[in-house]
Amino acid sequence: MRGFSRSMNIKNLYVITMCGILLIYLMKKQRNQDATKCLSFEEMVAEKVNMEDECLVNYVKNRRMCYPSTLQYNLTTRIDKKIGYVTPLTPLQSYLSEKDAPWIEALIAVETFVPKRGQRHFLECGAIDGVTFSTTLHLERFLNWTGILIEADDRFYSDLKRVHRRAYGVHACVSRDSYPSVALFKPSPIYVASTFLGHNVTKVNPGTGYLVSQHRRELNGSDVDFIEVKCIPIYTALLAANITNIDLFVLDIEGVELEVLKTLPFEKVSVAIFMIEMAGKPESERKLLRIFLQSKGYIFYDSINGGMHPGDEIFIKDEYYKGEEDIEKLKILTPRDTFKIVTGSKDEDVDSNDLKSFVIASHPVFGHLVI
Ligand SMILES: *[C@@H]1O[C@H](CO)[C@@H](O)[C@H](O)[C@H]1NC(C)=O
Ligand SMILES: *[C@@H]1O[C@H](CO)[C@@H](O)[C@H](O)[C@H]1NC(C)=O
Ligand SMILES: *[C@@H]1O[C@H](CO)[C@@H](O)[C@H](O)[C@H]1NC(C)=O
Ligand SMILES: *[C@@H]1O[C@H](CO)[C@@H](O)[C@H](O)[C@H]1NC(C)=O
Ligand SMILES: *[C@@H]1O[C@H](CO)[C@@H](O)[C@H](O)[C@H]1NC(C)=O
Repeated sequence: MRGFSRSMNIKNLYVITMCGILLIYLMKKQRNQDATKCLSFEEMVAEKVNMEDECLVNYVKNRRMCYPSTLQYNLTTRIDKKIGYVTPLTPLQSYLSEKDAPWIEALIAVETFVPKRGQRHFLECGAIDGVTFSTTLHLERFLNWTGILIEADDRFYSDLKRVHRRAYGVHACVSRDSYPSVALFKPSPIYVASTFLGHNVTKVNPGTGYLVSQHRRELNGSDVDFIEVKCIPIYTALLAANITNIDLFVLDIEGVELEVLKTLPFEKVSVAIFMIEMAGKPESERKLLRIFLQSKGYIFYDSINGGMHPGDEIFIKDEYYKGEEDIEKLKILTPRDTFKIVTGSKDEDVDSNDLKSFVIASHPVFGHLVI
């Protein structure tokens, strides 16, 4: 009897010990899983995870982002007559041709108003290949800026990576909500009329995806051209690149500017100057955008006339803007009037990679500038 009960006790002890070990093992396993478990992108979309979510930020860092390149620029001209790409211009060519002038206007606005507190940063949404129509290439190339380039279209993003920009590239469309989303996007050549969900779009910027998931159901088999793109909030991209002070924010996303701007936490991000594409927008829409940015402490400064980006609007944070006097100062400094060629070649065919053909221009704000 005694022997039996003793062997039972040993047996129980054995069972209890094993259960304990198993329990500890399971708890540990669970904890490890919690630490590493992140939802998939689709799950994050469904859960509407916050734009600051660590898993989302890491997803962007690890899966949707390329880091500033240390390699030489590869500005191979990718002229494609059929779809109208353009050759990258030298800054001089660009300013002489006036086609690209907004980068100069934006630069002048930044240099006039925004004190330099270390590295200058840009954020360009709708970056295309980082060369074609780029507002920020020259700032990076000649004035040592860096920043973030956001591009949704696969084809352009892979071109962008080949250019070796010294900036972060983010392969995504910008979300209209403060959580990640999926949009339908019709990759389309530049300046070709396209139809987006029954809305006529006369100028399609291939750098943008601005269609909404709620419209998906309306699409039928005939719309096979549409592809799904992953959209992330702008702030998530900023966190992924760890850049939250932006000197120049270029927003060119064909129609959803206001919605996208509304997702920006202005108390956490410092943007000195916005340059926003407003071409072809009805006055009512422009007004809404101005009212919104004014409510966030921005002064509407100017609409750009002519050139490649007619109707772009420039907004300046009011703390940098000191009134009428500044306006007059800036108005005097229109690009064409103020850059004076001091030395160098004006040859239209100058090789943009050939330093010898660069030109030194003189400017009242910048002094001598090699462009
Ligand atoms: C350019 O920026 C880098 C990185 O911020 C800095 O180390 C370097 O000194 C800057 N160069 C010039 C010429 O300003
Ligand atoms: C430079 O760009 C061209 C065109 O995109 C590409 O074919 C070539 O492989 C690139 N070179 C490097 C070194 O990345
Ligand atoms: C698109 O343009 C065509 C021709 O210009 C016009 O007939 C049609 O009504 C337009 N559709 C929309 C949705 O504006
Ligand atoms: C999709 O198809 C349905 C019926 O087949 C039709 O009623 C609807 O108008 C179509 N939608 C579009 C956007 O073509
Ligand atoms: C982010 O940038 C700040 C300075 O701007 C720096 O102090 C910090 O260490 C950076 N964080 C990471 C994770 O790199």
